Amino acid sequence: ALSSGVARVNIEDWEAYELELQERIGIDQRLMSRVIARAKKDPKRVVFAEADNRKILKSAQLIKDEKIAIPILLGNKAKIQNLIAENSLDLPDVTILDPFEENDLIEKYAKVLYAKRKRKGLTPYESQKLMRDRNYFGAMMVEMGDADALISGLTKDYPRTIVPSLQIIGVKKGVDRVAGMYIMNSGKGPFFFADTTVNVNPTAEQMVEIIGLTANGVRFFDIDPKIAVLSYSNFGSAKGEIPAKTALATQLAKARYPDLVIEGEMQANVALDEEIQKENYPFSSLINHKTNTLIFPDLTSGNIAYKLLAEIGNAEAIGPILLGMNKSVHVLQLGSSIREIVNMVAIAVVDAQTISQS
Ligand code: ACO
Repeated sequence: ALSSGVARVNIEDWEAYELELQERIGIDQRLMSRVIARAKKDPKRVVFAEADNRKILKSAQLIKDEKIAIPILLGNKAKIQNLIAENSLDLPDVTILDPFEENDLIEKYAKVLYAKRKRKGLTPYESQKLMRDRNYFGAMMVEMGDADALISGLTKDYPRTIVPSLQIIGVKKGVDRVAGMYIMNSGKGPFFFADTTVNVNPTAEQMVEIIGLTANGVRFFDIDPKIAVLSYSNFGSAKGEIPAKTALATQLAKARYPDLVIEGEMQANVALDEEIQKENYPFSSLINHKTNTLIFPDLTSGNIAYKLLAEIGNAEAIGPILLGMNKSVHVLQLGSSIREIVNMVAIAVVDAQTISQS
């Protein structure tokens, strides 16, 4: 079996798609090429919780052949081997673990889970049972250093996928809550959107946390964040819960991060149009700084905005990138494409590299 033959088919598809993106919408691919190059410098062990899936296995083949990461596959071994054969993939040296067979690891991991959650109502029996769940097993592998990053979420809803990682791995020191960011790569350049996946209705104080996490997330891609806090109003032009919350979040964020370029509250078109700002809001600190980061007032607006842009707005969505976790964990959007999965794996590897250096 010639693994490069398998990979070449995928890579050709990939390059054709990139060319199409470039021609159709003028999207610049350098952002992700840089991340992939960084990942390849020090590939990390990435555990896939949903390896009994064709798209995950094809992604695993690609990341292995391209030396982006070292895949670890979780699931029923016979089922995974069948899928590998059916899809003419070639993954002979890849570790496959079935939580229903790994009794020694389950024993060890269940003890750790029990110690973490015994005062949150978990019994030893329940710990053992939960550890057979691949999202728990995968998160524990990362927590225990048996893997460097976890990728899951392709086939299960986001809330059920993220909770095991929140319980086992938790947030980074100094961080209160995690948030999700998307990169919307468009003909006008990359834009960073948050929170698009986690916090349903953050308070102004929680939005300040989200702004700080997002600023770091943007810098991860070697880009200087220029942040607009979005609302349906401009600088107090309307009264209401959202204008008040976003105005307060802006004020608090300016005080907490004095070095950040941040402005609000404002409508999305104002955030992206300097002429409107110059004419009507000449005090805006985003003038002469091209806005590249949009902070949404709640999950409803953030999630709907990114999905609309991806579907009908000619932008490629890269993410969701989970910000603020103590280890590298990324929960895919349900039904992600192979390209989206590989992008997320590269981001997860670089995230793991950064965490291991800190
Ligand atoms: N940051 C850090 N920890 C958190 C956060 C957060 N934002 N939210 C919850 N937690 C912690 C809790 O404190 C809890 O810890 P503990 O059990 O040790 O005390 C643990 O995670 C689990 O919390 P639960 O109470 O079981 O879950 P909760 O009801 O708080 O739900 C969740 C958390 C699942 C993230 C919820 O906020 C949610 O459903 N968000 C929306 C997710 C969603 O549907 N997104 C849209 C789709 S995603 C997409 O389109 C790609």
